[in-house]
Amino acid sequence: MPYILSIESSCDDTSAAVLCNDRLLSNVIASQKVHEQYGGVVPELASRAHQHNIVPVVDCALRDAGIDKRQIDAVAFTRGPGLLGSLLVGVSFAKSFAQALNIPLIEVNHLQAHVLSHFIRTSDDYIPPQFPFMCLLVSGGHTQIILLHSHFEMEILGQTIDDAAGEAIDKAAKIMDLGYPGGPIIDRLAREGNPDAFQFATPQIQGYDYSFSGIKTSFLYFLRDRLVEDPDFINQHKADLCASIQKCIMSFLLKKFERAALKHRIRQVAIAGGVSANSYLRNGIAELGRKHGWKVYTPTLQFCTDNAAMVGIAGYFKYLKGDFADISLPPYTR
Ligand code: KG4
Ligand code: ZN
Repeated sequence: MPYILSIESSCDDTSAAVLCNDRLLSNVIASQKVHEQYGGVVPELASRAHQHNIVPVVDCALRDAGIDKRQIDAVAFTRGPGLLGSLLVGVSFAKSFAQALNIPLIEVNHLQAHVLSHFIRTSDDYIPPQFPFMCLLVSGGHTQIILLHSHFEMEILGQTIDDAAGEAIDKAAKIMDLGYPGGPIIDRLAREGNPDAFQFATPQIQGYDYSFSGIKTSFLYFLRDRLVEDPDFINQHKADLCASIQKCIMSFLLKKFERAALKHRIRQVAIAGGVSANSYLRNGIAELGRKHGWKVYTPTLQFCTDNAAMVGIAGYFKYLKGDFADISLPPYTR
């Protein structure tokens, strides 16, 4: 019955969680508002905010879980990929905590953690995915179709050759001057819009790979031409633009994922990462599940964007294998 404390600090969310086996006892996330005014994450400010947040966030996670720090059996932390200064805060904290309590350390890969979030037991009757299953991992930094043979045997079938899906949607929002991060804003505004109002070309890319830079450029050129005729075009058509660009990106993601899953005769599918919070994507994957008889896993919203619970579950499976990390381990950025 290990109690695992987990730490996530790879980007702009400081998070700590406590798990007992695969059961989540607490998951505390401090999101950094400081970046909004800059229209993107400022690494230097992110490290400082992590430094400011980490102790109270861990304190809060222990309190929410109702346990004392001396009951913790191991500390799991995100080793990478991410921003170096941000990672260093979590990594150093985890090392000191483990050393002070003389307990093992577990290093976790952030992307594996996103995928493994589907194994967090949030209720007694929860049935986690059965292998093999396929996951569409879509975040601000990554876009991958992953075939899982076991918890840590992850085969990447396809991935983006340029921008990530989240990056593309954030850029579309930036072009329209909607604010940062743009994904949730576009998702919200799209609800009032017609997804078929405008068409943007999606690229022809080999196999199961993706590309998003062309979509971004075609969106930019389309708007530039319209703005010449009507300087108020974006304001007049905001909801339709959001709904159309969202549909373009999400249906492109889904189309390739569907092909990959059919080819590999997969019966269980999942989405993960920040973009898996998107309502078009969530509805889309549910519809594919109905169409093909797949069991579909969509993460609850707290497990979509960065959080320590997913780091804890990945840590738990490594704990079972006795896969512990050395105190001298440095973080990695990519
Ligand atoms: O996984 P995540 O929190 O951080 C990374 O590891 O990158 O993902 C952040 C990304 C951002 O690009 C954000 O705009 C996007 O997830 N995102 C969304 C939604 N919520 C967050 N994209 C579309 N629709 C959403 N509802
Ligand atoms: Zn992430």
